[in-house]
Amino acid sequence: MKLPGLIDVHVHLREPGAIHKEDFATGSAAALAGGITTALAMPNTQPPLVDAEAFNLASSAAEEKALCDYGIFLGANLTNAPDLAPLAPRAAGLKFYLDSTFGPLLLDNTIAWREHFERWPPYMPIAAHAERQTLAALLFIAGLYERPVHICHVSRKEEILLIKAAKEKGFPVTCEVAPHHLFLSVNDIPSIGAGRAEVRPRLATPEDQQALWDNLDVIDCFATDHAPHTLEEKDSDNPPPGYPGLETALPLLLTAVSDGRLTLDDIIARMHTNPRRIFNLPEQLETWVEIDPQSEYEIRGDESHTRCAWTPFEGWKVRGRVRRVMLRGQEVYRDGKILAKPGYGKNVRALKRSNV
Ligand code: DOR
Ligand code: ZN
Ligand code: ZN
Repeated sequence: MKLPGLIDVHVHLREPGAIHKEDFATGSAAALAGGITTALAMPNTQPPLVDAEAFNLASSAAEEKALCDYGIFLGANLTNAPDLAPLAPRAAGLKFYLDSTFGPLLLDNTIAWREHFERWPPYMPIAAHAERQTLAALLFIAGLYERPVHICHVSRKEEILLIKAAKEKGFPVTCEVAPHHLFLSVNDIPSIGAGRAEVRPRLATPEDQQALWDNLDVIDCFATDHAPHTLEEKDSDNPPPGYPGLETALPLLLTAVSDGRLTLDDIIARMHTNPRRIFNLPEQLETWVEIDPQSEYEIRGDESHTRCAWTPFEGWKVRGRVRRVMLRGQEVYRDGKILAKPGYGKNVRALKRSNV
């Protein structure tokens, strides 16, 4: 059975600055193994992608190493609003970090939010990490500017209901949910282990989790928030938040299809059609993912391509396997083997220009 090339609009590939966790080669290999042919990389790297110098560093590394197609977000900070517009055409979008999480980016002042809304080109996407009341504040300010905004990793009932209400009022808001918030809750923390279970937004209550399933029609995208940290870091006294997710997302979602909780069309809408529209991504010609929807297996962290080689879904039985991936006419993955060469992946913003 064939699916279109899937798009993950939220991944952390750790380059520059933390390539012991992941780099563009290992992260994009994990993407292909998960049936993802386009990954949009987040800017909370070291240095963070808040200026031309850092953005060029990440862009060159990606150009040299990426195996799948990619885009790269710029990060908003308190002072860089005036400088970002010239870089916008080369970026996947602009990322607002409005609540604390991993990395140095935090935009905790609404004057800065407004400067970014005023200066970032209106036709380019803005994505935000905004939880609970921060989400309400962001929707209000985006509303003042009548500006589309994409909400990352929605995890709570109060958030999905607020987005639903905003959509009903005609706000141009879209959102994504991560598989770990669909499939895990606080009840899973003891079996994962407290350090490994750290993630932002945190695992939520079963009631929050159920609200996501009850409001599937409000969810525009499934995005992994693939956030690799090594096991040594996760098991330390100061565990950083985040899970790898690129290789487990599709098998988990296909298992939900097999259990009758989702349809294949639900997955295609949220990992292909809607991400393409929201982030204005080019068509990938001759691109598809062959899956075996009946194949059953157990998820194993040590069999993954991500450099961090662990998973919060260790030992989960899934039904649905990625067999083969074609990307722009080339076979790039087959039965566990990565066939693409580093550098085969293209920046979606460059592709876009050559495709039109
Ligand atoms: O758990 C998380 N990890 N949430 C984030 O927002 C950032 C991410 C990371 O970069 O590790
Ligand atoms: Zn986030
Ligand atoms: Zn993230």
